[in-house]
Amino acid sequence: MFTSDTLSEQTILITGGGSGLGLAMAKKFAALGSNIAICGRTKEKLKKAAKAISEAGTGAVEVRYYEADVRDHDRIQEMIVQIVSDFGRMTGLVNNAAGNFLSASEDLSPGGFKAVVDIVLHGSFNCTHAFGNYLIDEEQEGNILNMVTTYSESTGSAFVLPSACGKAGVLAMTRSLAYEWATYGIRLNAIAPGPFPTKGAWSRLVPDEDAEEQFLSKIPAKRYGDKEELANLAAFLMSDMAPYITGECVVIDGGERLGAGQFNFIDKLAPREKLKQFFKAMHEKGS
Ligand code: HXC
Repeated sequence: MFTSDTLSEQTILITGGGSGLGLAMAKKFAALGSNIAICGRTKEKLKKAAKAISEAGTGAVEVRYYEADVRDHDRIQEMIVQIVSDFGRMTGLVNNAAGNFLSASEDLSPGGFKAVVDIVLHGSFNCTHAFGNYLIDEEQEGNILNMVTTYSESTGSAFVLPSACGKAGVLAMTRSLAYEWATYGIRLNAIAPGPFPTKGAWSRLVPDEDAEEQFLSKIPAKRYGDKEELANLAAFLMSDMAPYITGECVVIDGGERLGAGQFNFIDKLAPREKLKQFFKAMHEKGS
C-alpha cells in the first residue's frame, strides 16, 4: 500500500515533467512525499505544472522547475549540480522527455531522424550520465526509470522509425547500466506504456477518428490506459518497495502487445456467446 511517506526523503527529477505522463508521475510522486524537480524547454508550461504538482503534494514537498533541453549535455550537467544545490541532494531520475512524429521512413530528413533520436536516446544518456556520476562520486544509492514503448523491443514499429530506434537504445542502456552500476547501488528500470492518450502524443501520432478506432480495437482490455495507473507503477518502481528489481522493463498496455497470438482473430469473428455455441457444436461433432 502506498502512503503519504512512501517516497519521502526522495528528490526526483522528471524530464519533460511539464505535461502528459511526466506531469502525472510528478503529481503522484509528490503526493507520496517526494521533492520534485521537472525540466523542459518551455518556461510557462513548467511554471504552471510546478504549481499543480505542489498542490498535489503533501505539505512538506518542495517543487522546482528548470529550463533545459535534454539534448544539451553541458546544460544537463549544470542542471544536476543546481538541483543538488537547491534540494541538498538528488535520489531519482525519470527519463520521460520524448519526441515523435509519424512519417514514411523514406521521406525522413536526416534532421528529423536526428531530432527524435537526440531527444530520446542522447537526452536519456545525458541525464543518466550526469546523475550516475553524481551518485557514484557521492557514494549514494539511487534510482533511474526510463520511459520506453511497447515497440522498443521485439517488433519495432512502422512509421515511427526514429522513435523505435531511440527507444530501443534506451532499453539497451537500461539493461547495460543495471548490471554495470548495480555495484554502486544504482537501480535502472523501464516502463513500456501502450496507448495512454496525451495531447503531446495524440496530436502527433493519431491522425483522425478512424485511426483512434483502429488503436482501440487492438487493445483486448478495450480501453486506453489511465495516467494514474502508469503513475502508480512508476511510484512502485521508484520506491523502497522494489529494491531488488533492476534491469526490468514492465509493460503496461492492457494486453495490446499480445495481438500476434495465432488464434486471437477468432474473437473478432462473432460475439462471444455465438462463438461458444460454435465451439460446443464442433466438440459435439467430434471435430
Ligand atoms: C517529418 C518532421 C516533422 C514531421 C519535424 N520534422 N516534425 N519531419 N514530419 N511531422 C523534422 C523537421 O523538418 C526538421 O528536419 C527536424 O525534424 C527538426 O524539427 P524541429 O521542429 O526544428 O525540431 P524541434 O523543435 O527540436 O522539435 C523536435 C520534434 C517535435 C521531435 C520534431 O515534434 C517535438 O519537440 N516533440 C516533443 C514532444 C513529442 O514529440 N511528444 C510525443 C512523444 S510520444 P530538418 O531536416 O529540417 O532539420 C512518444 C510515445 C510513443 O514518444 C508511444 C505512443 C503510443
